[in-house]
Formats: sequence, C-alpha cells, structure tokens
Amino acid sequence: MNSPLTIKPVATALGAEIEGVDLSRDLDDGTVAAIRQALLDHCVIFFRGQSLDPERHKAFARRFGELFLHPYFAGSRADPAVIDIVREPGDRRVVGEYWHSDTPHVPEPPMGSVLYAVEVPPYGGDTLFSNQYLAYESLSAGFKSMLEGRRALHTDRLVSGPAQQLNAARATKIRIEEKWSETANHHPVVRTHPETGRKALYVNRATTVSFEHMTEEESAPLLKYLFEQGSRPEFSCRFRWTPGAVAFWDNRCTQHLAINDTGSFRRVMRRIQINGDRPF
Ligand code: SIN
Repeated sequence: MNSPLTIKPVATALGAEIEGVDLSRDLDDGTVAAIRQALLDHCVIFFRGQSLDPERHKAFARRFGELFLHPYFAGSRADPAVIDIVREPGDRRVVGEYWHSDTPHVPEPPMGSVLYAVEVPPYGGDTLFSNQYLAYESLSAGFKSMLEGRRALHTDRLVSGPAQQLNAARATKIRIEEKWSETANHHPVVRTHPETGRKALYVNRATTVSFEHMTEEESAPLLKYLFEQGSRPEFSCRFRWTPGAVAFWDNRCTQHLAINDTGSFRRVMRRIQINGDRPF
C-alpha cells in the first residue's frame, strides 16, 4: 500500500475524512481497495488539500470504473467526462440545489461522483449528504412491505429543459437547451446496493414524479413523505469545502444537496462521474 489511510467519521449517519493519501499519484491496488471499502462503509468520503488537474482527476476516478458522460451538462471543456460546476456572483440557481442522487433518469445512473474544489468562497457553498440505507431501514415493517417491488418514474424535466430557464439563471449551462427532450426511466423505489447487499431508498425530490401505474397527483403525498424521510437531519452530514478538497459519494445509497448560499462569491468545482449499473 502507498501509505496507511486514516479514516475519521464526520457524523454518525455517514461521511468520513480520509488522511494520508495523495490522489494525484498512481495509487496501488491496496490503496484503491482501502478507499473503495471506506466508500462502502461511510457512503461519502472526503479528502483535503489535494492537487488534481483534470487528467489526474480522471485517472483517480477511473480506478473505480469507466467514466460516465453526462447527458445534459454543457461543461466548459472539450472533454465530455469533465464537468465544471461554476457559480458566479449573482447566480440565482445552482446545480444540485434540491436533494437528489445523480442522474437517476437514465437507465444506468452513475455509481459515484468525484467532486474537486477548484475555488471556494470564504464561507457558504457547503454540500449536504444523506444516508439512504438509514432512510429505508427506519421505515416501519408495514411501510416497507407496501414499497416492496414498487417502481417510480425519474425524469430530468425538473432539472433541465427549457421550461426551467436554467441557462439564464446560473453560470453552469445545460447543453443545447432548445433541442432538449425529456428523458425518463422507472427504477425500484428501494434498491439493493450491488456491493453491500443492503437496501436503500431510491426516490428524490429533483427527479421522482410518480409511482409506476399511478398518476402524479396520486403519488404526490406518499412521495412527499419519502422525500422528507430521505433528508432527515439525523441521516445527514455537512461538508465545508476548502481549496483542493474532494468529495467522493456513492449514488447507490446517498442523496446530496448543494446549498444555494454563495451570494456574492465565486465557487468553482470540477466533477467526474463513474458508470454504474441498472438499479435492482
Ligand atoms: C452536484 O449536485 O453534483 C453538485 C454538488 C455541489 O456543487 O456541491
């Protein structure tokens, strides 16, 4: 192993900071396995003081799978695997401002995301994460059995597309907004994590609009309850960014929310995502 890792939980529900590793170096298999295990154990892991250019950032993410190409972010680079998430002073909307897991409207959503802080405000711009295993496990037996085998529709219509008018409200642009057409897919309401075998709630406010075979109006009350369940404070942790910090989260068992409070400050992040499989 390159160096022994120090893993320090940041909250009871999820999240741990990892010390003792330089992500810009070629990591040996033992170190990669230890990082993967920490991700499985803590659902989101954090590293401070890293120095990652886009190529080293991609090289790190690639140790955990093939890179995911985002369907609608324009990014600001020629490389479609690299998305710059930029906030400028005065932006009214920000990427990820509602609780969500990443891109669940596609058939095979990314398993994880690696977000790197290029430029951070002196305060504000934190990111919240929430543990969806706990959200599921703390439901009653009766509620769990009602959700058994149920699927829900995920759409990108609330987070992209011309109706949202996002390109006018924020610095991070959506690709060819005028040629957008909706993408939607059904996924299980409760998914099984392919590596841990644990069950996690898999609906979120940003993309889930109905249960299969039910109308949006019929689905809304129960979905509202589940959205609140998925974002309860005791299931969450909060990450305060510093320059060079990295957050690596597991979309199969977490949700996250980017707090829209950077006000007059600039915030620049770079995100690389890793392919995942079809939720089951
Ligand atoms: C995201 O939802 O991926 C963005 C998170 C952030 O900018 O903190």
